[in-house]
Amino acid sequence: MANPTSKQNPTTNSCFSLAVFLLFVIGCTARPIYPLPSQDDYRIRQPLQTFRPYNIAHRGANGVIPEETRPAYLKAIEDGADFIETDILSSKDGVLICFHDVTLDNTTDIAKYKKFENRKRTYEVEGVNRTGFFTVDFTIEELKLLRVNQRYSFRDKQYNGKFGIITFEEFISIALDADRVVGIYPEIKNPVFINQHVKWPNGKRFEDIFVKTLQKYGYKGSYLSKDWLKQPVFIQSFAPTSLVYISNQTDLPKVFLIDDVTVSTQDTNQSYWEITSDKYLNYIKNYVVGIGPWKDTIVPVAKNYLEEPSDLVARAHAHNLQVHPYTYRNENQFLHFNFSQDPYKEYDYWINKIGVDGLFTDFTGSLHNFQEWTSSDTKTESNILHKIALLVSPYNN
Ligand SMILES: *[C@@H]1O[C@H](CO)[C@@H](O)[C@H](O)[C@H]1NC(C)=O
Ligand SMILES: *[C@@H]1O[C@H](CO)[C@@H](O)[C@H](O)[C@H]1NC(C)=O
Ligand SMILES: *[C@@H]1O[C@H](CO)[C@@H](O)[C@H](O)[C@H]1NC(C)=O
Ligand SMILES: *[C@@H]1O[C@H](CO)[C@@H](O)[C@H](O)[C@H]1NC(C)=O
Ligand SMILES: *[C@@H]1O[C@H](CO)[C@@H](O)[C@H](O)[C@H]1NC(C)=O
Repeated sequence: MANPTSKQNPTTNSCFSLAVFLLFVIGCTARPIYPLPSQDDYRIRQPLQTFRPYNIAHRGANGVIPEETRPAYLKAIEDGADFIETDILSSKDGVLICFHDVTLDNTTDIAKYKKFENRKRTYEVEGVNRTGFFTVDFTIEELKLLRVNQRYSFRDKQYNGKFGIITFEEFISIALDADRVVGIYPEIKNPVFINQHVKWPNGKRFEDIFVKTLQKYGYKGSYLSKDWLKQPVFIQSFAPTSLVYISNQTDLPKVFLIDDVTVSTQDTNQSYWEITSDKYLNYIKNYVVGIGPWKDTIVPVAKNYLEEPSDLVARAHAHNLQVHPYTYRNENQFLHFNFSQDPYKEYDYWINKIGVDGLFTDFTGSLHNFQEWTSSDTKTESNILHKIALLVSPYNN
C-alpha cells in the first residue's frame, strides 16, 4: 500500500502516523467492550471481600441450624459468610458427602431405623477403636433417608429431624447458586480411614475423587488468581500426605489443619511440636498457603483463662503462611473468662491483637456483625453513605 504522507514534512508525517496508530489501536480495542448477554462471566456478582480476615462458616451456620445441611449453608450465606466450610466423607458406594463424624450416631436419627440395627461396627479410626454406625457402611441412597440433628443439647432443636445429609456436589451447587461470590472450604476428612474402607474404580484414591469433583465444577487457579476469585476455595486437611499428594493435581490453595498438642498427625504420626516447628513450616509452605490450628494451642488456656500467647502466628506469618484458627462459638461454655462471656470481645482479641487471617465460626452472623460494625474500610463507609442517600431521597422532592 502506497504511503499517502510520503511528501509531507517529517513532523506532520509522524503526527499523522501517531493518529493512524491511535485509530488503529482504538479500532482494535473498542469493539468488544460491551458484555455479551450469553456469557456467564459478565454476570454481576458481588466479589469475595479480600480486605479483612475471612469469615469461614464452620459446618454452615451450625450454631443455629443442624450442621452441614443445606439450610445451615443457606443461613450462613445470608448471614455474611465469605466461605462455607464442610467435612467430606464417603458413602459405601463411593459418593462424597458432607458429614463431620465417621459415625452417624451423634448427629442423625439412625437409631430409629430397625432395618439398620445390624450395621453397627467397631473399626480402628486414627489409632482408637470406635463403635457405631459408620457412613462407609451405608449407600448414598440409605444415607439420604436419614435426618440430621443438633450436636449440642443446649442449641435450638426445632430443626432436628427436618433436613437430610447432602453430597459434596450439592454443597458446591449451594455456593455457586448464591447471589454473590461465596467461597467453599472443604476438608479431606479422615483420608487414611476412608481409603481403607472405600474403593473406587481404577485404583483411584479418596483424594483423587475429591479433586476431580472440584475440577468438574470449574474450581481452578492459585490463591487470588482471576479464576480463583471467581470460584474461591481452600482445601483443608489434617493429613499432610493428602495435601502433598493432591498438590500434583491442582494448584488450588490448601490449608494444613493442626490438632491439639496431644494429637499426632493421622497419617505421618508426627507430634504437634514437630509440625509447628520452623523447619516443618518451611517445608509445608511449598504445598499450602496457610495453617488452621485449634485456637487454644495458639493461646494456651488454663482453668478457662487465657495464658501467654505462643509465637505460632508470628512464625507462620514469617513463612508467609496465613493462619485460620478454629472454632469460635458464642456460648458461655466455649468462651474463656477473659472475654466476659462476650463473643465480640473474643473476635476483637483474635482479629486485632493476635492478627489472624480467617476464623472458623459456628455463628457466621456474629462474626459478620462484629466485622461490619468495627470496619473502617472505605467500602463500608461508601455503603453507609449510599444507605443515607437512600434514606433522605424521599424527602428531597
Ligand atoms: C481394636 O480392636 C481389635 C480387635 O479387638 C484389636 O486387635 C486392636 O488391637 C484394637 N486396637 C486398638 C487401637 O485398641
Ligand atoms: C458421641 O459423642 C460422644 C461425646 O462427644 C463421644 O464420646 C462418642 O464417642 C460419640 N459416639 C460416636 C458413635 O461417635
Ligand atoms: C508428583 O509428580 C511427579 C512427576 O510426575 C512425581 O515424580 C512425584 O512423585 C509426584 N508426587 C506425589 C506426591 O505424588
Ligand atoms: C507414633 O509415634 C509415637 C511416638 O513417637 C509412638 O510411640 C507410636 O508407637 C507411633 N504410632 C504409630 C501407629 O506408629
Ligand atoms: C486472662 O485472664 C487471666 C486472669 O485474670 C490473666 O492472668 C491473663 O493474663 C489473661 N490473659 C490474657 C491473654 O489477657
